[in-house]
Amino acid sequence: MDSFLIKGGAPLNGEVTVSGSKNAALPILLASIAVDGDVQYGNVPDLRDIRTTIRLLNILGRGASLEDGRVLVKNGEMGIEAPYDLVKTMRASVLCLGPLLARKREAKVSLPGGCAIGARPVDQHLLALESMGASFDLQNGYIHGTCPDGLKGAHFSFSMPTVGGTENALMAACLAQGETVMENVAREPEIVDLANFLNRCGARIEGQGSSVITVKGVERLYGCSYDIMPDRIEAGTFLVAAGVTGGELFVRNCPAADMAALLGKLREAGMEIEEREGGVLARAASPLKAVDISTQPHPGFPTDMQPQFMVLLCRAQGPGMVRENIFENRFMHVQELVRMGADIQVNGPSALVRGTGRLEGAPVMASDLRAGAALVLAGLCAEGETRVQRIYHIDRGYERLEEKLSAVGADIRRVHEQE
Ligand code: UD1
Repeated sequence: MDSFLIKGGAPLNGEVTVSGSKNAALPILLASIAVDGDVQYGNVPDLRDIRTTIRLLNILGRGASLEDGRVLVKNGEMGIEAPYDLVKTMRASVLCLGPLLARKREAKVSLPGGCAIGARPVDQHLLALESMGASFDLQNGYIHGTCPDGLKGAHFSFSMPTVGGTENALMAACLAQGETVMENVAREPEIVDLANFLNRCGARIEGQGSSVITVKGVERLYGCSYDIMPDRIEAGTFLVAAGVTGGELFVRNCPAADMAALLGKLREAGMEIEEREGGVLARAASPLKAVDISTQPHPGFPTDMQPQFMVLLCRAQGPGMVRENIFENRFMHVQELVRMGADIQVNGPSALVRGTGRLEGAPVMASDLRAGAALVLAGLCAEGETRVQRIYHIDRGYERLEEKLSAVGADIRRVHEQE
């Protein structure tokens, strides 16, 4: 198992380029299951979750390969089963349920287990697909779904705006007979990217990015070429890196239009955030001001930036309140930050961060992807040396993180744990 060894204190300066979005690429790659033709993708990040997705497509019978940011998914006969060994390593595999039902009228997907940041049920995914005519039973830990007569357009409303639930239903509805109207859908930019991809393949989707999506079913989706949008969470992590290290970074390909809530909070904390042609320039402030954040579905403050932003609050002067409204149990990074000298008190879904401006290096452990990113940020601005263990979580979602950070002045290297 690898870890990161970080010597903190160097301000990050220069230019860093954002990769393709993991959370857009996962559903858009899996959407190829619903497509009758070859699909070519560009700007695909080389990440552990992406390689898992490609493995899943191959298991299902679609030859898929990743090279230099491009993925080719070939047309072919398809199976219907996503096995446990694969789903247990990547929860997003459940997103093959919708496209498999749409194309094959049957799907067998291992039920995703619990995960470090909360229970994360899939009840809304199943309810949406049921209202389109699918029926499900649970067999030996697998969700088995069937719709022998194909899916039918339906009108339904989600109980909460779920990203994965909306994506699963959207992929299914494209090939359903008639019109589907989905209310209270998630509005995340990755859903817009998925809908744009499906429309490029011949789907008829309207309303993506708003709370109501309408889909007119078509008989067939055709192959196409499509470039994945840049990763707003990776971009946000770099902006915070500039802030906590007292540096100045030009974050190339930063999708600023999709990041208003985060950019607003960084400005409120005193950072200079300049939207320029081709990216965003972020300049640190000294001292940083404490602010409050409260995570919400898009366009609110993203839960996937909450752990990283907490590091910024540790570096600020005064108290800042963090409220996590999306996932229970998403404060696993707090105890690790406390070991680095942070003053944070958790009370249910809220955490009070009393910024002291100072963190000190320590051995710490990543519990999940974004918690891991937060610990790297903490290590970059802490006094002394930090060893972040279990970085396989970070490798799930950040492409060549240590290379990108080293290139702008960070002292970070990957070591094998026994070193
Ligand atoms: C996606 C993102 C993840 C991000 C999250 C919220 C991917 C691969 N992952 O996860 O990085 O943190 O959106 O922005 O895109 N819920 C239910 N029942 C359901 C589905 C969801 O109760 O059937 C609940 C969840 O437990 C959670 C909330 O709804 O509390 C939001 O979850 P959801 O939007 O579905 O997140 P994911 O799609 O899993």
